Amino acid sequence: MWLQWHGSVLLRLLVVAGSLTLAAGSPPRNLTRGAAMAAKNYEEYAKNTLEFATQRMRNIWSRRRDIFLSLTVKGRPYSAVNQAPLKQEIELDNYRLAYELAANLSVVPVRQLQDPLLRRRVQRLSKLQLHGLRRSDFDQSRELLHTMQTFISGRSVCHAHHQDDCQQSLAMYPHIMNQAVRSQRVEELEYYWLKWRMAINDKNTAKATFIDYVRLLRIAATYNGHVTPSRTWYLYYDTENFQRELEDVVWEVMPLYRELHAYLRKQAILTYPHRNYEEDGSISAPVLDQMIGQAWYPHPIFRVPFPNSQLPSVHQRLEQVLVTSLKINKKAAEFFESLGLNHMSDGFYEKYSRRMNDDELSTDCKSVVYYFPPEVALRYCPKLDYKKMMQMHATMSDLQYNIYKKELPFGLDTEPCPGFGSAMGEAAIIASGTPRHLHRLHILLNESLNHDQSMNRLFRMGVHTLLAVPQYFINDKFLVDVMDGRINVQDYNCAYWRLQNKYAGVAPPKMRNEKSFDPDFKFYRGLSPERSSTMKFISEVLGFQFYRAFCLASGQYQPGNPEYPLHNCDFYGSTEAGKMLREMMQLGATKHWRDIMEIATGERKLSGRGILEYFGPLFTWLKEENKRLDLEPGWDSSTMCRND
Ligand SMILES: *[C@@H]1O[C@H](CO)[C@@H](O)[C@H](O)[C@H]1NC(C)=O
Ligand SMILES: *[C@@H]1O[C@H](CO)[C@@H](O)[C@H](O)[C@H]1NC(C)=O
Ligand SMILES: *[C@@H]1O[C@H](CO)[C@@H](O)[C@H](O)[C@H]1NC(C)=O
Ligand SMILES: *[C@@H]1O[C@H](CO)[C@@H](O)[C@H](O)[C@H]1NC(C)=O
Repeated sequence: MWLQWHGSVLLRLLVVAGSLTLAAGSPPRNLTRGAAMAAKNYEEYAKNTLEFATQRMRNIWSRRRDIFLSLTVKGRPYSAVNQAPLKQEIELDNYRLAYELAANLSVVPVRQLQDPLLRRRVQRLSKLQLHGLRRSDFDQSRELLHTMQTFISGRSVCHAHHQDDCQQSLAMYPHIMNQAVRSQRVEELEYYWLKWRMAINDKNTAKATFIDYVRLLRIAATYNGHVTPSRTWYLYYDTENFQRELEDVVWEVMPLYRELHAYLRKQAILTYPHRNYEEDGSISAPVLDQMIGQAWYPHPIFRVPFPNSQLPSVHQRLEQVLVTSLKINKKAAEFFESLGLNHMSDGFYEKYSRRMNDDELSTDCKSVVYYFPPEVALRYCPKLDYKKMMQMHATMSDLQYNIYKKELPFGLDTEPCPGFGSAMGEAAIIASGTPRHLHRLHILLNESLNHDQSMNRLFRMGVHTLLAVPQYFINDKFLVDVMDGRINVQDYNCAYWRLQNKYAGVAPPKMRNEKSFDPDFKFYRGLSPERSSTMKFISEVLGFQFYRAFCLASGQYQPGNPEYPLHNCDFYGSTEAGKMLREMMQLGATKHWRDIMEIATGERKLSGRGILEYFGPLFTWLKEENKRLDLEPGWDSSTMCRND
């Protein structure tokens, strides 16, 4: 402990040369000396330092607020160009503040602080991820993340139909993804899959960029005194060997995953019959990508369980009932008001809720919540469809969360761990998409679907959720195992495929080797601590745990009662569920995330239980159907990658 702490101070001293000196009394080279007196001094010092930092943060918030207001002045077009330098300056100040503050607070021996809230603030603010890097390294980490973002959004691959005359290159996202959703030719899927990997790893770029980035993450870990670098990657989860907890969830839902996998593999063979399939029982990666991508696509390429029982179309009714995106926002706000959370005032809609400008509306624009206490604000994507309607419930959840959090002292006014806030949003998303809720909104005539439709719906959601969860895990594990040195640099690609084989039953479309570097585009997305694969994983898994808890509390889920299954639970109007949600939101980061999740779930660990109960009827159906079709779930342990 002493060594670890001491090491981190020394490293920071080298970096923030001079800024520490006598401010904390004499530097604490001997903790036993005058411990009692020091404790009091430390308490004073920590309070003063935090007070000063809060002032600086307020200044940053108020400048963020000015930008928000000027971005959206009526009649004046948004100009990203004008705002960019200002924004950068603010983010730089944010970095400087976080960095200096961590250095200043790292001399405080946390355990000696009496006040538990103060202790927690110091603890959370004295260790950082990328923001703990010195300026040049921090800038480099931003650049590397940017480069990896261009792997995804840069136009790098020729259109499959114009390979000889490449006038038009496509980006992985959104172009190739959009093609892949519709394509009925597996050759085309494979073409894009291979070409994109060749393009981004030309001259070893993708791999080298990744290695460089990992180097910086490791440096950030040494500043925190973490011998195992992943401790810094999992900083806010505050758990020894956190990866183990994630893996346990993957194994917990594996029986369900395997049934779905077996069924989908059969559908892949039926859809692409001329393809020679490996006999190892795996699904080819490009085909799996296509399956996941289909979640929101109205014309499925792969057979659904009951093709003759189409889901009722909600689009037209939704347009008739909800009419404008503002009305969707208000409906979503009403969801939370019905739970007894904050009422969104007219004043809010007038001043702090703004429509995105037309030039910002990409195919999949996402609403954004802004946090600049005492205000919170919203810029929303004005699209009018089912998906946006559901997503707006997550946005409103985030807005509510921010309204509660802003009452907390700076440093604790955040979620207790990354993904916690979006898990609460996820629970609201799931509720808002149930037939029961759509019936409440007068979008569906009936509050439940018939058996066949219901199974189709669960199947679609299952493909979306159950296939994605192991992929988040694999992407996270690959990064963390590389970071901690458990994967050797000569073995990156084959190690990646061993993970795909073990946890997902997925194989590359042809034999691979170490000249390639094959992680998918979501892997690169998940490298930023702000939207990590860890976070995505938690938001799905914990989201279903929360959903289950809110549904039990509201009485809308009654295990064993077919009238009230978990998958059709709408906890709208439940003040019991609302109380849990509010309590968790009000706590911000003042407690460990386990203490906070326990309020709703009664559990202190991540678990697959919510997912398993939600998809219970699908699980039963898949088992029977697979038996009927004589499909054996599972796959061989083999890897189509050779280390030559
Ligand atoms: C630390 O302080 C104690 C008590 O004053 C003293 O006995 C001890 O020798 C000191 N240790 C070091 C390493 O200076
Ligand atoms: C501001 O700094 C904190 C670190 O204290 C970081 O978590 C956060 O993402 C930064 N905000 C922005 C917008 O960069
Ligand atoms: C850190 O301490 C130095 C030296 O006392 C001071 O100049 C600086 O403003 C402090 N910064 C923060 C954010 O606490
Ligand atoms: C509503 O669903 C139930 C159960 O599936 C069914 O019996 C009933 O006929 C449906 N009502 C309408 C109006 O479709």
